[in-house]
Amino acid sequence: MKALIVCVSVSHGNTRRVAEAIGEVLEATVLEPEQVEVSSLEEYDLVGFGSGIFNQMFHPRLRGFVRSLPKAERGRAFVFATSGFPPQLWPMARLVRRAGFDVVDTFSVRAFDTWAPLRAIGGVNKGRPDAGDLEAARVFAAGL
Ligand SMILES: Cc1cc2nc3c(=O)[nH]c(=O)nc-3n(C[C@H](O)[C@H](O)[C@H](O)COP(=O)(O)O)c2cc1C
Repeated sequence: MKALIVCVSVSHGNTRRVAEAIGEVLEATVLEPEQVEVSSLEEYDLVGFGSGIFNQMFHPRLRGFVRSLPKAERGRAFVFATSGFPPQLWPMARLVRRAGFDVVDTFSVRAFDTWAPLRAIGGVNKGRPDAGDLEAARVFAAGL
């Protein structure tokens, strides 16, 4: 199975760590949206799309990338996120589906969050994603 992970991780590298854990299991390359050759997407059996959550949404670079994809018949996909609080994954899953992918699963973990109002208290979820979170990501990947 040929797999690719498209990831935007700009705040603390939280999502990148999760992407790398999933990528180990899937033997997938992890790329930023701008590094993806759109025409090469057809070569993959499975593509993952992940970022942190910012003001309740996936990162605009990831959303913009998925929106820009020409609609085509594509392979399987999954959506994942790291965030301070439980996120809504369905809006991104819907975008990915609209690009022609078959979204087979979603995954999220809580992660260190220093969004402005939380910074005063040192942030929340310090130290996460931790070893247990990364193991959960590997278990998720194994089930794909
Ligand atoms: C400006 C800003 C806004 C954020 N908004 C949310 C939010 O609406 N909901 C949430 O659960 N986490 C929010 N977070 C926390 C991030 O989603 C979390 O830290 C995430 O793990 C960042 O991923 P990254 O390190 O891969 O970029 C926000 C963080 C920042 C800096």
